[in-house]
Amino acid sequence: MPSSITWKGLAILCASVGLATLWIGNTASDDDAVFPLPRGRALVNECGSCHIVYAPGMLPARSWRKMLAELGNHFGEDVILLEPVRLALLKDLEDMAADGIFADMRMRRIAGSVPVNTAPQRITETAFFKFMHDEVPKSYWQRKAIGIPGNCAACHPRANEGRYGEREIRLPR
Ligand code: HEC
Ligand code: HEC
Repeated sequence: MPSSITWKGLAILCASVGLATLWIGNTASDDDAVFPLPRGRALVNECGSCHIVYAPGMLPARSWRKMLAELGNHFGEDVILLEPVRLALLKDLEDMAADGIFADMRMRRIAGSVPVNTAPQRITETAFFKFMHDEVPKSYWQRKAIGIPGNCAACHPRANEGRYGEREIRLPR
């Protein structure tokens, strides 16, 4: 029978390890943080030349809809897509979005953390991202090897494959 000391110890441990760990523990059974990418090459080819390939499961469908409707002014860039390519990509993004039909528990949590009346265009501005990266010291983000917070691959070497598992995290010097 567990003594009260054990439970107290557990509580202290949880508190010191931090909420982020709890959050992970609650959402992932295998703790691999894999965000699948669409089967086709469109996302990689059309959206992976200027920055890493952001996984659809990181934002709700309404964010992707807004983004793909406003590609003429995409963070100051004019992203040109053939209409059939744009429509196919939109469908993939919607299906695999954080609130899409293929979303897993982790993604649903992300979706749930985005206020319903908003369609954030940056993963890095979502509450989920801020919460997940709470423990990364501020000074890290200024390092040259990172450049911008959206450069996920600087610390998640397999971000381009949608892999964000804790075991693979590397903090560059
Ligand atoms: C011509 C270059 C270019 C292409 C092509 C491009 N983007 Fe971007 N994207 C940018 C720039 C520039 C930013 C802003 C980078 C910064 O300053 O953080 C950005 C930012 C983003 C962000 C926000 C990242 C964050 O900070 O969380 C997402 C999501 C995104 N792009 C998705 C896409 C998708 C989806 C496509 C394909 C339809 C695409 N991008 C194609 C240039 C591009
Ligand atoms: C400066 C390095 C750095 C950058 C850049 C970065 N991350 Fe992270 N990320 C971390 C660290 C460190 C953790 C582990 C946080 C923890 O467990 O307390 C983490 C955790 C995560 C997790 C949770 C993993 C899990 O096991 O549940 C996800 C998902 C994630 N990051 C996504 C992203 C995305 C998407 C981007 C880019 C838009 C990004 N990260 C950019 C350092 C970074």
